[in-house]
Amino acid sequence: MRQKIAAGNWKMNNTLEESIALANELVAAGSPEGVLTILGVPYVYLDKINQIVSGAPGIEVAAQNAHQALSGAFTGEISVKMLSSLGIKYVILGHSERREYFAESDALLLSKTNTALAEGLLPIFCCGEPLAIRKSGEHISYVINQLKASIFQLSAEDFKKLIIAYEPIWAIGTGETASPEQAQEMHAEIRAAIADVFGDELAQEISILYGGSVNAANAKDLFARADVDGGLVGGASLKSDVFIQVMNGFQ
Ligand code: PGA
Repeated sequence: MRQKIAAGNWKMNNTLEESIALANELVAAGSPEGVLTILGVPYVYLDKINQIVSGAPGIEVAAQNAHQALSGAFTGEISVKMLSSLGIKYVILGHSERREYFAESDALLLSKTNTALAEGLLPIFCCGEPLAIRKSGEHISYVINQLKASIFQLSAEDFKKLIIAYEPIWAIGTGETASPEQAQEMHAEIRAAIADVFGDELAQEISILYGGSVNAANAKDLFARADVDGGLVGGASLKSDVFIQVMNGFQ
């Protein structure tokens, strides 16, 4: 059975006080049986939030980015070594906002993924197409090419540590969700492409999350699809009552 995952991506939101309250509320609710909950927390709160969730079974913390070097003269940047020294286990890499606003290329993301894995961190690796590509009908080859240019170059041993998040850019923060059919179609294509490169057994083990306007109302329908193993959730992860419903959206 593949791991079911409800991942929140807090992005650049909330004060320390608000973040602590949110984490405490999620800990009080608890991660549902058989579900891994991962909170994508801003760097400055990682240590604090990690301490809060440390006693809660099934709740982990992720950084939202990390640098490709282990250390050095990179003012303002954060390394995976720093993250692992805090006991952080997960890191989101390749979010479309990083790709777009910070010009992160597939090659750079492969480098970040390699560095993270070498330091023992587990990446949640994002992919997804912009609206114009979806409209052109080229979305499947676009996403598979993102993967070919990055994580498909890993060894099988490394690749199987990844969580993949498919996040169509046109659905992020727009309120327009991919339909469960659209999500399932892409997830099945991604899994088939993984099977081509790494074999079917490994492909069946990889959790593929859907991201893009997941909320309390649509999570159940999305998560019910055969190849949708959970969600990477932005806006709906910022309110505990809403995110708790998403966490409970698995059958
Ligand atoms: P959203 O963001 O749920 O607010 O659309 C998802 C994401 O960017 O990970």
